[in-house]
Amino acid sequence: MFSFCRGRPPCLPFPNAQISLVCFTALLLCLPPPLTAQPDLSALDFAAGKALFERTWVPAPASTRSADGLGPHYAARSCAACHANAGRGQAPAAFSLHLNDPVYGQRLLSLSTAAVPAEVRIEWLPEDSSAGQPLSPAWRFKLNGLTQGEPSSPISLRVAPSLRGLQWLQVVPRLTLDALADPDDRDGDGISGRLALLPSGYVGRFGWKAAVPSLQLQLQTALALDLGLSNSAFPEPWGDCTAAQSECRAQALVSADAAAPLEVDATATGLLLSYLSQLPPPAPLPRTEEGEALLRELGCAACHVPALASSLGEVKAYSDLLLHDLGPGLDDGLREGAAQPSEWRTAPLWALPPEGPFLHDGRARTLDEAVAWHGGEAQRSRHLYQELDAERKALLSAFLLGL
Ligand code: HEC
Ligand code: HEC
Repeated sequence: MFSFCRGRPPCLPFPNAQISLVCFTALLLCLPPPLTAQPDLSALDFAAGKALFERTWVPAPASTRSADGLGPHYAARSCAACHANAGRGQAPAAFSLHLNDPVYGQRLLSLSTAAVPAEVRIEWLPEDSSAGQPLSPAWRFKLNGLTQGEPSSPISLRVAPSLRGLQWLQVVPRLTLDALADPDDRDGDGISGRLALLPSGYVGRFGWKAAVPSLQLQLQTALALDLGLSNSAFPEPWGDCTAAQSECRAQALVSADAAAPLEVDATATGLLLSYLSQLPPPAPLPRTEEGEALLRELGCAACHVPALASSLGEVKAYSDLLLHDLGPGLDDGLREGAAQPSEWRTAPLWALPPEGPFLHDGRARTLDEAVAWHGGEAQRSRHLYQELDAERKALLSAFLLGL
């Protein structure tokens, strides 16, 4: 067999990917001889992981299977409910409320098992179209029925990002990121990205504030905090319930099976990781040359770095994976991981959904609005963008949205 056939087949198992001639030929060349056919383990793991990702979990009392145990509080019943087709979630169903509160924990959760009330009911308010307001966030909400009074922490609305190509972000060497960081702005360009260095000593790469260092920990965090499912990183069965939520903790199912104490065991976690780490990066953006030239000219490329070197080849995510201060307009009041309230990880631009919504809380309806919210370190770049004529703006958006 050809050497490139080893490992993951180049096109499968991604039925939606465009099968190019090259890819199709490669597949034919890689087909094993019929009689000695071996199952492709990575493809099997991918399929099993995908099934877990799409699985609708049920609250513990409804089943005796050790794999269940949703809740007591949760944000959705499946990963796919927020990350449909592993892409950016549809607002408002795919929103999650982050906070850091001694009572409510790290998520404000609007669903729960029958045994306990949900922490909150979220009421989405109509768009604020008040005249004279050039920028108003697309999504605003009101909290009703808070079970334990007002949280003392600021609340940060987050939209579920696309999950494509995350393994490629994982393997960018720390040295590469170090070389891009310029925390004291020594080169005087007004841009001072810094590593999201976590107390654990690892560099944060995932989440809008790069608070999580690895894909595995990110998915285990999602299991525990978004779904209330215990796993090896979060062994307690009560998910995001704090000690101040004793009723919730009392209702959490403690497994009666000492040999299977976790709601999601190491095998299932491994399958989910296998699925996520095999999700390929999005196809390269068309009109790359013109588009990248414009990104450089406007200074966008100082943060949205077109390509990073890695062991898997060039990672064309248009991000430096560093934290940048984007000014008061995007300040959510919340410290998370290594990030200050106005700091965000440069959002990768390789998987923007043409219809939006854009930015961490989906506040921007269009690309134009997304750039208009850029302040702080990105202020100069925003001004340059806003001076472009309509034709070049259209070119940039055609490039970024892959149109
Ligand atoms: C309630 C909606 C919701 C559910 C359910 C959910 N997620 Fe997410 N997911 C999000 C949001 C919002 C973020 C961004 C979080 C942040 O800013 O830190 C995210 C981020 C991620 C990331 C990091 C993406 C990146 O670009 O850094 C991964 C990986 C992920 N989720 C996997 C999962 C898995 C696996 C599950 C199921 C176990 C899951 N998610 C369930 C909303 C959700
Ligand atoms: C100083 C660094 C920096 C510069 C310069 C910069 N950006 Fe960003 N960009 C960011 C960060 C950080 C975010 C995430 C902000 C958030 O979600 O609140 C972001 C988000 C975005 C998004 C939304 C992505 C998403 O997933 O919704 C778009 C689109 C974008 N930038 C385009 C641009 C363009 C075009 C330029 C140049 C005109 C530019 N940016 C310049 C750092 C920068």
